[in-house]
Amino acid sequence: MCGIVAYAGEKQATSILVDALKRLEYRGYDSSGLAVLTDKGLEVYKTEGQITNLETKLPKIESSCGIGHTRWATQGAPTTINAHPHVSGNIAVVHNGIIENYQELYDELKSEGYKFVSETDTEVLAHLAHMYYKGDLVDAVIKGLKKVRGTYAAAFICGDSKQVVAARKDSPLIVGIGKGENFLASDVTALLKYTRDIVYMHDLEIASMTSDKIDFFDFDGNPVQEHTESIEWNVETAEKSGYPHFMIKEIHEQATSVHDTMMGRISELTGEVMLGEIKLSNEDIMKLDRIEIIACGTSYNAGLLGKYLFEALAGIHADVDISSEFRYANPVLCESTLLVAISQSGETADTIAATKEAKTYNCRTLAITNVVGTTLSREVESIIYTRAGHEIGVAATKTFTSQLIVLYLLAIHFARINKRLDVDRSKRLLVQMKQLPGIIQQILNNKELIKKQAVRFSKARDYFFLGRSLNYPIALEGALKLKEISYIHAEGYAAGELKHGPLALISKDTPVVALATRASTYDKMLNNIKEVKARGAPVMAIACADDTEIQKYVDAVIRVPVTDELLYPVLSSVVLQLLAYYSAEDLGCPIDKPRNLAKSVTVE
Ligand code: AGP
Repeated sequence: MCGIVAYAGEKQATSILVDALKRLEYRGYDSSGLAVLTDKGLEVYKTEGQITNLETKLPKIESSCGIGHTRWATQGAPTTINAHPHVSGNIAVVHNGIIENYQELYDELKSEGYKFVSETDTEVLAHLAHMYYKGDLVDAVIKGLKKVRGTYAAAFICGDSKQVVAARKDSPLIVGIGKGENFLASDVTALLKYTRDIVYMHDLEIASMTSDKIDFFDFDGNPVQEHTESIEWNVETAEKSGYPHFMIKEIHEQATSVHDTMMGRISELTGEVMLGEIKLSNEDIMKLDRIEIIACGTSYNAGLLGKYLFEALAGIHADVDISSEFRYANPVLCESTLLVAISQSGETADTIAATKEAKTYNCRTLAITNVVGTTLSREVESIIYTRAGHEIGVAATKTFTSQLIVLYLLAIHFARINKRLDVDRSKRLLVQMKQLPGIIQQILNNKELIKKQAVRFSKARDYFFLGRSLNYPIALEGALKLKEISYIHAEGYAAGELKHGPLALISKDTPVVALATRASTYDKMLNNIKEVKARGAPVMAIACADDTEIQKYVDAVIRVPVTDELLYPVLSSVVLQLLAYYSAEDLGCPIDKPRNLAKSVTVE
C-alpha cells in the first residue's frame, strides 16, 4: 500500500524522508522516490525496489523541505518511471488513491499540450497543479483537485518556496507538529520518532505546511481550525492503526477496499460495468461458451461464487478447479474457453503452473489479483486488479471480498453483453453494490454481538458451516477462516449434503453456523436447520435484518442489513471473518501468523 511522507524544517530533509519512508515499509511497496528543494530548485530521485536502492542513488544534497513516497502499484507496472513523485514543470506530487476520471483529465491535459511520461493516474495531478499555478500553490491545488473524481491523499511541492501543500479525500493523511519543523504522512508510524503531536486531516481539506506554520483550508479556500492530538501508541500498535492484529485491521478496512474495487468501474445510471482492462471484445465475450476458474484456498472459494454468478447472470457454463489438481488433470479447453485465474498474491506456484498448462490449449486468459507486476500477471492476456491494498495477515479477508466484487462486475459485464441482464435489473444491482461499503460498516459497528457468539463456542472441537447455492462457497470460506487461525476443526457443507454422511457427526457439542440470508433456497435451509437442531446442535444463523421467522428455530441470529439477494455473500463473509477472528483471539492464537502457514505459497 502506498505511503506518503513530507518534511519542512531546518534539518536535512533527505535523511528524514528516507527514514520516515523506511518506517512505512511494513505496508508493502515496490518502488520509492522523493522530491526536495535545493539551491538548484526542485530535485527528484526515484527507483524500483527497496528503499536502500533509493538511498544509494541519492547524492549529498542540502535540503530542508521535501516529499517522499513508497508506491504499491495499482495502475501501471512497478517501474522507476511510474514511481512517485510525478513532476510537471517545477511542481512535484506524491499521491495515494485512485483518480476515477483519469481518462477525461488525461485527454483534457493532452489537448492543453501536457506530455505524459508514466502509466499512472497520479501524473494528471502534477499537470493540473501546474496548469493552475500562478504563484499560489494552495490555490492551484484546490483548482486542480476540484476537477478530480476519486480518492486521494496527496502532497505537492513547488520549486518556488519551501512549502508543502497537502489534500485528502477518502485516504488518510496526518500532519505532525514539531518545534521549528513540521511533518506530514499517510500513516502515524512514519512520524512517531519525530513527534507525537498529530492532526488528522479531514476529507476535502487542504494543509499548507512550512517549517514554522501549518494552515488548514476547505476547498473554497476558507481557513479551518484543527485540533492537535497527542498519540500514545508505540510503533507496533501504530502499524496496526491501534488494532491488536493486522487481520482485524484489514477486516475493518473492507468498507474502503470494496469501494476502491468498484471505483470507476460501475455506472448505476446506465447499468453498465466498465472493465477497460480486459482484452476481450464484445464479440469475443459472446463467443465464450465456458469459463474455467482456477485458484487455491480462499481464492478458490471466491471462484465458487464466480461460477454461480457466471451461470446465473451471464448464462455461461463455468467450472472451478483447485489449481494443484487442475495442473495434473487432463483439462478440456479450447479457444472459446476463458480461463480465470484468481490469486491474491499472484505468486501462488500451483495457480501459475495451472495457468501455464491452460495456455497450451490456446484458451483466453484473465487473472484477478491484488498485486501488480507479479508472475501470474505476466502469464495472462487480461488482468483485473482487486485494489484491496496490501494485506499482511496470513488469513485473506479484504482481498477475498474484493475478489467477490470483481467477480460480480465481470459476471454483470458479460451478462449485459450477452443480453441476459436487462438495464433495469442491472441498474438496481449496481445501486445496491454501491451501498455495500456503508452496509459493511454497519456490520463492523455490530461486531460485539459476533464476538459474544465467538467466545461462547471457542472451546468447541468441531464447527459446521452450512449454506446453499450462493451461500455454499461462503460456508466453505467461513470454515477455512476458522480452522486457519483458531485451529478449531471446521467443515463447510452444502446443507443438502448433510443427510449423506456428515449428519452423523452433529451433536450438542458441534456448533452450526447456518447461512440463511434471503435466497431461493431459504425454505430448504430452514429444513436443514431443523435437522441439526433435532440432533441437539447449537445453531447460529446469519440472516437478513427483516427476517421475523428465523429466530424460532435457532439459538442466536446475527443479522445483516437488507440488500440484493445476490450480494449477501459479501456481507456474510465479513460476519464469518469476525467470528473466526474473535474465536482465535479468545483462544490466544497467533492470529496474523498461524502455525505452518505462509502468506504466499510460492512452492508446490
Ligand atoms: C487464505 O486465508 C489463505 N491464507 C490461503 O488459502 C490463500 O487464499 C491461498 O494460499 C491462495 O493464495 P493466493 O490467493 O495468493 O493465490
